[in-house]
Amino acid sequence: MDEGDAMQYLASHGHEKTGNDVIFSWFARYQHAAEAGADAVNGTVGALLEDSGLLAINNVVDEAIRVAPPSEFAAYAPLKGLPAFLDLAVTLALGEHRGVLEGLGLHTGATATPGGSGALFQAASNFAERGDAVLLRDRHWGPYVGFLKGCGLGIATYPLLPTEPSAATPFLDLDGFRTALDGLVQSQGSVMTWLNDPAHNPTGLSLPPESRYALLNAFMESATRNEHTGHTLLLDAAYHLYADEPHGWAETIAEALNAGLPWPENLLICFAISLSKSHTIYGLRTGAVVYLHPEESNVQRLNDVMGVTGRQTWSASPRIAQHVLSELHATPEGGAAWSSERDRLADLLTARRDTFIEACQRHGVAVNPSHDGFFAWYECTDPVAVAEACANQHVYLVPLSGGVRIGLCAIPQSKVERVAEALAKAAEAVE
Ligand SMILES: Cc1ncc(COP(=O)(O)O)c(C=O)c1O
Repeated sequence: MDEGDAMQYLASHGHEKTGNDVIFSWFARYQHAAEAGADAVNGTVGALLEDSGLLAINNVVDEAIRVAPPSEFAAYAPLKGLPAFLDLAVTLALGEHRGVLEGLGLHTGATATPGGSGALFQAASNFAERGDAVLLRDRHWGPYVGFLKGCGLGIATYPLLPTEPSAATPFLDLDGFRTALDGLVQSQGSVMTWLNDPAHNPTGLSLPPESRYALLNAFMESATRNEHTGHTLLLDAAYHLYADEPHGWAETIAEALNAGLPWPENLLICFAISLSKSHTIYGLRTGAVVYLHPEESNVQRLNDVMGVTGRQTWSASPRIAQHVLSELHATPEGGAAWSSERDRLADLLTARRDTFIEACQRHGVAVNPSHDGFFAWYECTDPVAVAEACANQHVYLVPLSGGVRIGLCAIPQSKVERVAEALAKAAEAVE
């Protein structure tokens, strides 16, 4: 009897959900090696660890949560989120550019979600027609495909980097983006693209200002040219508060509007906000979709749509962090205390990344450009063979489609050099 016959109660789309998460299986290999006494390096997990290997905690957030009243833990939140939290979510998305954007006539709205994942689900479920494809870069966070597939959507991709680096947009394949977008506009009634920037998972790439502007300009121009085709740009801001330019996209949007680019009615820009990493509350499932549009009535309508979607999917999002963090960020002292802890954690990442890039240069390892956030990336044709060759040296990384992900967020500073050495040997053995 095969599995299909045995599990007649499982719907056909359920049968398609197979396999263990590759990240967790390589993490298990690290754990086995460490438990067996090997001096093993953990570059597998996607959470920020202290150099000691313990989960890094933003202590200001932790302390604030621990003294919250019991009712804030126990009660439901309003279905669309606590109003003060929604206001905070808009500020976390737009930062110091919020006032400028609102002054330029943009209306902003937000709906609370269980983490950034909930925001991605909201977008998948509401901004693309079933059967359509969503435009991604060819290197992207693996779960994107599952969120989209679960909503009956496919993907279209364009290359992460241009084959011929252009001086104007060295980290963006603008032609690839335009061509893929045009293709979708020809065949679909609406188009959506997801862009995890800054601090891309899995590479650590952040688009510089000119590239952001070029991409936004191309998207706005496509929306203007195809006025009956809905255009949604979703910026996945899962790691933005660890980036050098955390609010670069808000700045770019303001720059485009100031330059007189018209905002077409059929254009929507959203942010998927996650507090998992920025506030080290991965398990408290707190995030938001933030949306921008010149028509206030459209923003209100979206808020209703998101509220209903949440109600029908997970009910309300968890309350406790919405309450605690909106209180914390409400005072300048609270915000400053959070950001000094955030800076301490960001410094860990910067030190590890600087050491890694320098060591890779010394060992002749051709790692991808990597600027911010939790990861770095080694592009290669046989990622599993490279990861296996590293594992033979007790350096555990994650082989993904097109390359190997290096979890700088997990690797103690003192072990970073060993990762570059392992990759150098692996490259020699495999490539
Ligand atoms: C690229 C990216 N987007 C979104 C998320 C969502 O995070 P969460 O749902 O924990 O807030 C993650 C988490 O790892 C991520 O890496």
